[in-house]
Amino acid sequence: MPLPKKVRIVEVGPRDGLQNEPQPISAAVKIELIERLADAGIRYIEAGSFVNPQWVPQMAGSDEVFRGIVPRPGVSYAALTPNLKGFERALAAGANEVAIFAAASETFSQKNINCSIDASLDRFAPVMAAASAASLPVRGYISCVAGCPYEGAVSADKVRQVAERLLQMGCYEISLGDTIGVGTPADIRRVIEAATQSVPIEQLAVHLHDTYGQALANIYASLEMGVAVVDSAIAGLGGCPYAKGASGNVATEDLVYMLNGLGIEHGVDLDKLLAAGRYITEQLGRESGSKVARALAQP
Ligand code: HMG
Ligand code: MG
Repeated sequence: MPLPKKVRIVEVGPRDGLQNEPQPISAAVKIELIERLADAGIRYIEAGSFVNPQWVPQMAGSDEVFRGIVPRPGVSYAALTPNLKGFERALAAGANEVAIFAAASETFSQKNINCSIDASLDRFAPVMAAASAASLPVRGYISCVAGCPYEGAVSADKVRQVAERLLQMGCYEISLGDTIGVGTPADIRRVIEAATQSVPIEQLAVHLHDTYGQALANIYASLEMGVAVVDSAIAGLGGCPYAKGASGNVATEDLVYMLNGLGIEHGVDLDKLLAAGRYITEQLGRESGSKVARALAQP
């Protein structure tokens, strides 16, 4: 299949990138990052999550972050919402899109959201109803599509089953998460092949953590199969608090560099993106996880 002409980038840095940070990060810094990402041309920003603040303290201030954003037309400011309480908080704070998150592994589901996969889908039903009443689009995530930190191998058919349920519930898009970044292109192809038995390829996205350095290769394999929505995190920040040792998503700068080279449209200005990456890494006092950012920073 020819590569897509255009890719939609879903920037998850302010949520996935920062949720695992032990040091306090003020709402003002998060808001500044979000504004810089929007300035760079990103049109979808996952800006925070409304989960139990005792479970993920870094996201406790998401209300303040959403309230502080000056919304721009055409930009989605999305929030993760695990249950109705989370959805109500997200709606009140001004999120214009939400995401529900399930897993393809029972143990990960228990550790991450404290319930079985089936129970999580039941909890999402009222979120879907409330989102529909408020006319908010809902994205669905599936974690552990290529492996689980607790169970090891995960069946591609299980991924397909969860994807089918999320689609039937009304998610407009399903993001396939390699939470611990263990998959190789062969695994990702197998998972996408299975998922497309139940979900049209246009409604699939990939969310690839780069722990084993496979993310760009896996994205290329996904593009070859027709996937045209890719999640990424500025400066490669992040991980999941319930997947120990998992590193961040593919860096948005690296993704944009690769798409530029492939002549695939994405609407993002690499220089402005690099500046946004420098801003947040300076705030965190840390080197960028983006190889492109590091290469271009050489004198
Ligand atoms: P629970 O303990 O089963 O929930 O947690 P509960 O309904 O029994 O409530 C317990 C207490 O939590 C109550 O407070 C609730 O009010 C409160 P109390 O009455 O005891 O004082 N509570 C909440 N407070 C604020 N906002 C809420 C909320 N819900 C309940 N929304 C829950 C269930 C899902 C809430 C919990 O397990 C949780 O917060 N987990 C955090 C999960 C998380 O954020 N994980 C990281 C994001 S997922 C990820 O990174 C993967 C992804 O990137 C894709 C990939 O890479 O694979 C998306
Ligand atoms: Mg993730």
